[in-house]
Amino acid sequence: MVEPGTQRDDAGGRFAGRVAVVTGASRGIGLGIARRLADEGASLVLTARRMDGLEEAAASMPAERVRLVAGRAQDPEHRARAIDVAVRELGGIDVLVANAGINPVYGPLLGLEHDAARKVFEVNVLGTLGWVQAACAAGLGDRADAAVLLMSSVTGAVPSPGIGWYGVSKAAVAHLAVTLAVELGPRVRVNALAPAVVRTQFARALYEGREDEVAARYPMRRLGLPEDVAAAAAYLCSTEASWITGQVVTLDGGLLAAGGAA
Ligand SMILES: NC(=O)c1ccc[n+]([C@@H]2O[C@H](COP(=O)([O-])OP(=O)(O)OC[C@H]3O[C@@H](n4cnc5c(N)ncnc54)[C@H](OP(=O)(O)O)[C@@H]3O)[C@@H](O)[C@H]2O)c1
Repeated sequence: MVEPGTQRDDAGGRFAGRVAVVTGASRGIGLGIARRLADEGASLVLTARRMDGLEEAAASMPAERVRLVAGRAQDPEHRARAIDVAVRELGGIDVLVANAGINPVYGPLLGLEHDAARKVFEVNVLGTLGWVQAACAAGLGDRADAAVLLMSSVTGAVPSPGIGWYGVSKAAVAHLAVTLAVELGPRVRVNALAPAVVRTQFARALYEGREDEVAARYPMRRLGLPEDVAAAAAYLCSTEASWITGQVVTLDGGLLAAGGAA
C-alpha cells in the first residue's frame, strides 16, 4: 500500500522533464539536493569550482541527464556559461537551487577584515542574486512551475558567536528570497531553506570531536544530514508547493524552538 502523500505523479518522478541548475553540487547539501532531484527525474546542471569533485558527484547519476560546469559562483561569466548549458543542452531551465556559499572568517565582528567580509558577500549574497538574474534572463519563468531555492541558515535568524558576518550574509539571503518572491511572482516561486548544523565538510569545525554534545542541544538529538535538506528542497521546488513562495523554511531538528543558537 502507498502511504498517503508519498505517491508520485508517474514513474519518472516529480521532476521528470524539468531542468534544474544546482550550485555547489559536488558535495554536502548541494550534492544531496542534486541526487534527490536526479532520482526524481530532473535533468541537471551541477556547478562547483573543481571539476574532479563534480565528476565524482555525478558518477552516481544518469549521465544523459547531467551536465557539469566548473567555476566560481561569484563569477558572472561562469554563471552565464552554466545557465547557457542548461538552455542549449538540456532545453531550458525550470528550477534554480543557489546553494553555493562560503564562510572563511571566524571571530567577533569588531575584528572583521573588510576584504574578507566583501568576499563573503560577493559569494553568498551577490553571487546568489547573480544566479537568479542569469536564470531569469535565460527564460526561467517562461515555462509553468518555475522555482528558485536559496540557501540561508539559522545563523541568519539568531546570532551565532564567531560566525556573525556569515550570519549577516545569510540574513541577507533570506531577505533576498522574500523580496524576489514578491518581484518574480506569479511566474517564479522563490523560497529559502535555513538549516542548522548539517553534517558536511563545511560545518565540520562546529561538531567534530564533540558531535554527541552538540546534538544534545537539538530536540531531535542529532545533527542534520544532506538528505534532510534535500527532501525539503525537492518539495519546495516541486509543483506540490505551487502556493508556497516568499518563505524561509527552518530545518533545525527543533534547535531554535529549544532556544539554541547554531
Ligand atoms: N553544513 C551546514 O551546517 C550548513 C548550515 C546552514 C547553511 N549551510 C549552507 O549550505 C550551503 C552548502 O554548504 P555545505 O555544508 O554543503 O558545504 P560543503 O560540503 O563545503 O559543499 C560546498 C559546495 O560548494 C562548492 N563551492 C564552495 N565554494 C564555491 C564557490 N565560491 N563557487 C562555486 N562553488 C563553490 C564546493 O565545491 P568546490 O570546493 O569544488 O567549489 C561544494 O560543492 C552553503 O551555502 C552553506 O552556507 C550549510
